[in-house]
Amino acid sequence: MEKTLELAIVLPTLNERKNLRRLVERLDNALQGIAWEAIIVDDNSRDGTSDEARAISLEDPRIRCIQRIGRRGLASAAIEGMCATAAPVVAVMDADHQHDPKLLPGMLAAINSGDYDLAYASRFAEGASTEAWGRPDRVKASGLANKIARKVTGVDLSDPMSGYFMLPTAILRGDADRLSGVGFKILLDILATVDTPLRVKEFPLDFAARAEGESKLDRTVVFEFLIGLYDKWLGRIIPTRFALFGTVGAMGVVVQFAMLWLMLSVVLGERFVYGHWSSDETTFNIANTIAALVAMTFNFVLNNELTYADKRLRGLGPLLRGWLNFAVTCSLGLLTNIGATAALKRMHINDVIAVLVGIVLAAVWNFALSSKFVWGK
Ligand code: GDD
Ligand code: MN
Repeated sequence: MEKTLELAIVLPTLNERKNLRRLVERLDNALQGIAWEAIIVDDNSRDGTSDEARAISLEDPRIRCIQRIGRRGLASAAIEGMCATAAPVVAVMDADHQHDPKLLPGMLAAINSGDYDLAYASRFAEGASTEAWGRPDRVKASGLANKIARKVTGVDLSDPMSGYFMLPTAILRGDADRLSGVGFKILLDILATVDTPLRVKEFPLDFAARAEGESKLDRTVVFEFLIGLYDKWLGRIIPTRFALFGTVGAMGVVVQFAMLWLMLSVVLGERFVYGHWSSDETTFNIANTIAALVAMTFNFVLNNELTYADKRLRGLGPLLRGWLNFAVTCSLGLLTNIGATAALKRMHINDVIAVLVGIVLAAVWNFALSSKFVWGK
């Protein structure tokens, strides 16, 4: 009788077609005598990674493929792959040959000994090396990210950002619904989420250079990392998305005041005395309307880049449509903004306070409506 399945290796892929076949060979070599399967979780790569995975699967049924449509993200792909196996132990590793499969049997032995809940490969442990990586910039950045991550989450490993680790599948499943699934930091997320601390065994890794293709760690991934840290730190008190919207909104406040000052003080030469501009009411309202419109456009661009980076509108058409939707949904907010300010001004309240009240009222409207009608589905 064949041995029952012992180990699953989850391989998240985005455009890794050329790396797959040799990787399967290396896995097969490293895992002699172990009953394993590999689950390739591919985000519908344009280079045909899924087709290649299925072709390999027809020759070797230990290889499986999950082709995800309309989804993105290393962490969420890893979670999905780990939840898709019946194997009692599961590993995650990069598919670009930067992680040496030779470490797998040792990691499996550590988990099966019952002494450890997590085995992981560290690029920064004693005996590890990052020289072959050939990216001193990334070594520095990773070191910094690790330091920040350790501070914020209290996780104390030499490389919590590692993408190469193994654990009993049941532990993962127990917490899978509480993982964020955003960005690259899946291991850190597991470590920071589980209730009882995991007993960890570290394996020094010689982090190799990528074989074919290029890295997918970009500006967005770095931003998602910082957001993830915020989420763990303060997310329960002020939801991340609202905090971002609020921050962008606060910058919008600066923009609106700057525009007002530019138009009233610089262009029209009005004086600002005792909390009031010397302009007449109509002039002020026109200037304030223009200032609010400029601030709104500024907010739209920044929210699209940051707050809703995961749902970012791209291309001239979608951007114009999005801006129009934003303008329409915000027009209620804008009316509130201008109206409240005008009303307060009539009550002889300080101009600055009047503008601020208008802005805050508008922000609440804008967040409620735009998350639904501009970036919602
Ligand atoms: N399914 C899926 N979806 N897979 C992805 C995605 C995605 O959006 N983005 C990346 N991957 C896959 C890649 O195809 C590769 O197999 C693996 O995840 C790692 O991605 P790389 O793009 O090669 O990452 P890297 O080498 O720059 O980053 C390394 O360091 C990070 C921390 O500094 C990796 O070891 C990461 O795992 C690690 O978090
Ligand atoms: Mn890589």
